[in-house]
Amino acid sequence: MCGIVGYTGAGQAAPVLLDGLSKLEYRGYDSAGIAVRDGEAEPVIVKEKGRIADLKKKIGSEDNVIGTCGIGHTRWATHGAPSETNAHPHHSDDNAVVGVHNGIIENYEEIRAKLKKKGYEFYSQTDTECIIKLVDYYYKKYQETPIEAIARAILRVRGSYALCLMFADYPGEIFCARNGSPMIIGMTGEDAFVASDVPAILNYTRHVYYIDNMEMAHLKKGGVEFFNIDGDRIEKELVEIKWDAEAAEKGGYEHFMLKEIHEQPKAVEDTIHSVVKDGNRIDLSGVGLSEEEIKKISQIYIVACGSAYHVGVSSQYVLEDLAGIPVRVELASEFRYRSMPLLQDALAIIISQSGETADSLEALRKMKASGIKTLAIVNVVGSSIAREADHVFYTLAGPEIAVATTKAYSTQLVANDLLAIEFGRVRGLLTDEEAYRLVEEVKSIPEKIATILEDKNRIQWFASKFANAHDIFFIGRGIDYATCMEGSLKCKEISYIHSEAYAAGELKHGTISLVEEGTLVIGVCTQSEVFEKTVSNMVETASRGAYLMGLTTEDNYSLEDVARFTVFVPKVDEHFSTSLAVVPLQLLGYYISLARGLDVDKPRNLAKSVTVE
Ligand code: M6R
Repeated sequence: MCGIVGYTGAGQAAPVLLDGLSKLEYRGYDSAGIAVRDGEAEPVIVKEKGRIADLKKKIGSEDNVIGTCGIGHTRWATHGAPSETNAHPHHSDDNAVVGVHNGIIENYEEIRAKLKKKGYEFYSQTDTECIIKLVDYYYKKYQETPIEAIARAILRVRGSYALCLMFADYPGEIFCARNGSPMIIGMTGEDAFVASDVPAILNYTRHVYYIDNMEMAHLKKGGVEFFNIDGDRIEKELVEIKWDAEAAEKGGYEHFMLKEIHEQPKAVEDTIHSVVKDGNRIDLSGVGLSEEEIKKISQIYIVACGSAYHVGVSSQYVLEDLAGIPVRVELASEFRYRSMPLLQDALAIIISQSGETADSLEALRKMKASGIKTLAIVNVVGSSIAREADHVFYTLAGPEIAVATTKAYSTQLVANDLLAIEFGRVRGLLTDEEAYRLVEEVKSIPEKIATILEDKNRIQWFASKFANAHDIFFIGRGIDYATCMEGSLKCKEISYIHSEAYAAGELKHGTISLVEEGTLVIGVCTQSEVFEKTVSNMVETASRGAYLMGLTTEDNYSLEDVARFTVFVPKVDEHFSTSLAVVPLQLLGYYISLARGLDVDKPRNLAKSVTVE
């Protein structure tokens, strides 16, 4: 989604802004712009539709944007088409206020109508222009400080935003506010930075402040001050970012996605070791869940979006089987608008890589408001979901840049596996020995993923054969069906080939009519209880002309009699088979996209973190 970078200090702003924006490219965007101010001079605003490279071309020489204070933005269109006019920064009619904004102002039409009556004109279709002009209106009407005018404006607007503004009367200064959209402030020596995401400023500083909802910041050369909505000064804690900048680089791989696929063994191992202590004991003290709390859980609600939701679908089988707790898995975007009776002794698990997904955050808030205890499984430290949840289990995937998630997904799976084992042990469904054995199985996953990756050339060959496929169907039962959902999403989001995940037993209730000569059907068969059943469903599609690919565990060699191409993954306790079976499907999606010459890391229309509804 949109990205923000701001800088004021001793150096030139434009190089910092452009560098920062390029670090946010992975979030997805369709236009970009910067505004740079040289002392008291009017800001120079340059905007362009397309990539940062197009913006740089338009700027030409950096001498065209001289100045030590500036703000920049990458826009992912919500209100108004991607265009130079709708790109940020936006400005008031006389340039008294210039700004960039992430998020959505829900009542922008009402604000626009009010301001039009006061004589304001609007040149764009954006909600951003409305909030900037609203600040300008209050600033002039009440002759207030920028902080007072911003506070007045944010009390008037509804929605989520991260806002960065420069005022003509305050050269060298940047004013920020947030509600719902992430924003961090970094300081080093005389230089002050603001950004919507850590990678944007990681080259310059690793010490940051997190601004909370309805708080504001005032940046100037050598200092930053924070304010609450009443305009009172507040203190903030400086937090050290532990990621290294290198972790957010491609490190010799052609794409971030391939790099991240290969980082899975380490990411999964680090996540396991964050809670598994000596003697295979699972220690959830860092997560903050006590044994008494675990014993009381009568129901688990898992709420998430996209791939994180697929983790929930797979984990429900593991949690129900090992911990004996009923589980409901809900799409956050649906759950937030549903009036579903919630059991009071329940635990809500919110899964999110970014910790900023708007629907997941709202679902978390709804759970909390209903008195349900919440546990977030989150990758980004200090993100909104992590900060608002009662308990947090941090996955240790490191920065994930490719839009298509791989390593974060895998770490979320093992986090849930370990919760299921510990819940089962504490609640007496598993003996210490059984829990120990299951932890050993989970600990074997990283090495087994590494083995699968060694065989990637075979998958690449197969991917090139089906690079022009029209439809792909992924079928499986139980946990395998959950794996199919993720395999199908990986395929469609980066290869743009239509695909569907189907519970194998449901095919003959309608969908099988779509199968025709040559349709690729991928059967995932890792669960012994339903192995034969899924194989029968695969055969049914083959009789209608399907080309069959099978995905199963070593030893199930009979699948080769049915499928024309079979991939084998190492054996693991069947509860955890998604962790292994998903890897060839991630590779398949990657290599199909590569063979089609697509933008693997930044697929069209998608953003890394979906911070709007
Ligand atoms: O940051 P989150 O885990 O909350 O993101 C949820 C989804 O947007 C995300 O998993 C999305 O589906 C991925 N792009 C899929 O690869």
